[in-house]
Amino acid sequence: MKKLFCSLILALSTSLFAADGASLYKTCVACHGSKAEKSALNKSQIIAGWSSENTIAALNGYKNGTYGGSMKSTMSAQVKNLDTDAITALAKYIETLK
Ligand code: HEC
Repeated sequence: MKKLFCSLILALSTSLFAADGASLYKTCVACHGSKAEKSALNKSQIIAGWSSENTIAALNGYKNGTYGGSMKSTMSAQVKNLDTDAITALAKYIETLK
């Protein structure tokens, strides 16, 4: 029983403190679709299944202004408050979407 309690606490604290890609992705759904299956605002590439390296590179690029097309300011607003952990968690999650 004690062991169960400890693992519960552990699971809770992990989900509270580690960047959680699935929850972070909720803010992206409106434009990219729940499975990242849409072209956001008919402008973006479909990012479902992108390798995490690609997504990390794109998101960091939007953040520092080195990546993007005509709508890149839309995306820089999305990523400006994301830290490295959050970007990595999002990228790992997007990689699992099909
Ligand atoms: C308001 C709508 C909107 C939201 C919300 C949004 N995006 Fe985007 N996203 C876009 C648009 C539009 C583009 C294409 C921008 C451009 O011209 O480069 C894009 C591009 C991208 C790209 C690169 C795809 C490409 O075409 O090169 C990635 C990766 C991406 N978004 C991830 C995300 C993630 C992760 C989130 C959530 C944190 C998110 N987006 C939230 C609209 C949105």
